Amino acid sequence: MAKYKVACLPGDGIGRDVMDAAQMVLEAMDLDLELIFGDIGWEFWKKEGNPLPERTKDLLRTTDCCLFGAITSKPKEEAKKELDPSLKDRGLEYKSPIVAIRQEFNLFANVRPCKAFAGNPLNYRDDIDIVVFRENTEGLYSGVEFFPVPDYLRESLKKGSKAMAKFDEIPNDEMAVSCRIFTKKGCRRIAKFAFEYAKEHKRNNITVVEKPNVIRETSGMMIREARDIAKEYPDIEVEEVNVDAMGMWLIKNPQNYDLILTSNMFGDIVSDLSAQLVGGLGFAASANIGENYALFEPTHGSAPKYAGLYKVNPTAMLLSTKMMLDYLGEKEYATKLEDAIKKVIKEGKVKTYDMGGDAKTLDFAKEVINNL
Ligand code: NAI
Ligand code: MG
Repeated sequence: MAKYKVACLPGDGIGRDVMDAAQMVLEAMDLDLELIFGDIGWEFWKKEGNPLPERTKDLLRTTDCCLFGAITSKPKEEAKKELDPSLKDRGLEYKSPIVAIRQEFNLFANVRPCKAFAGNPLNYRDDIDIVVFRENTEGLYSGVEFFPVPDYLRESLKKGSKAMAKFDEIPNDEMAVSCRIFTKKGCRRIAKFAFEYAKEHKRNNITVVEKPNVIRETSGMMIREARDIAKEYPDIEVEEVNVDAMGMWLIKNPQNYDLILTSNMFGDIVSDLSAQLVGGLGFAASANIGENYALFEPTHGSAPKYAGLYKVNPTAMLLSTKMMLDYLGEKEYATKLEDAIKKVIKEGKVKTYDMGGDAKTLDFAKEVINNL
């Protein structure tokens, strides 16, 4: 039996293209690792009415971690239309399988490194090296939402908050509510995770990004808990910045930021902004880490127009694979892989279309292998 069992979920669209690149590179490294492929995504929604079949969850339960490509998601009505005729009228609803995995496997930490590699023509500046820590299971993406707003909810909200008075005249079906739920446990574990990472990687600055002056209760909780955790790490400098201002600072002086700690939606936005500073979607890797499991994925989607053309940049996928090797404890291999990617970018001979070249996805992967 192999030392590590990795669930491979290519998904659809370019998820498959970039997974092929990752598989090639992993197979070229003499790691004792078994890749076990599983089903996820649009195809399984259409055929089975479930984009995350039970067998795939079982696969995740019996592996060390998961490498994920990308999936296609479409809005509610469109999703229904594409269902196999035999499945229509069963009241099936499309739910993003990646969000479902994050929640079911409690992958609370979303880690997104945004590092400018020397020689990348897409760098906004060459001295950027940020890691975003985003809470991944609660906040505004908790999935607790209402439309139309039921009477019982309106009444409770009215009892609890004077601010509700301004909505008195609005009918239930002209109002929608999405709950931003934070828990002390949720805030503490992502904060702890970020501070531990800082300590381990000898980083000495964390910027907590929230908006406590306006969203007092939830952002306030995150700030309070982060301050409390920070006491255990006296060598790490902590700064608090409002999320709107952070948008400006990241454009003005991105080189000044080290680690960013924030909640789910703010992290989603801030990490996309940060990724664009270092080359965009082709370079944006991520890890979703929980107490017992982890999933690694490029942050881009399935880019349907490029699906199967083997044209897109596999760097985001390969850097996610690098993060997976770190997670498995294979630090040497992880560093070797990152160094090889760095060399290919620096040499600039093999560039995909986004970098202004015409190399194909697997040419890039082969060049990485040549540099391992
Ligand atoms: P997308 O990320 O798939 O692509 C947007 C554009 O970015 C592409 O058209 C392409 O120009 C560029 N791009 C993306 N990845 C690239 C790469 N590796 N190299 C070079 N260029 C790259 O986002 P879009 O078009 O908004 O969404 C397409 C589908 O993907 C939708 O169904 C969406 O719901 C889904 N999606 C899935 C995600 C996931 O699987 N985690 C994340 C984001 C979107
Ligand atoms: Mg996003």
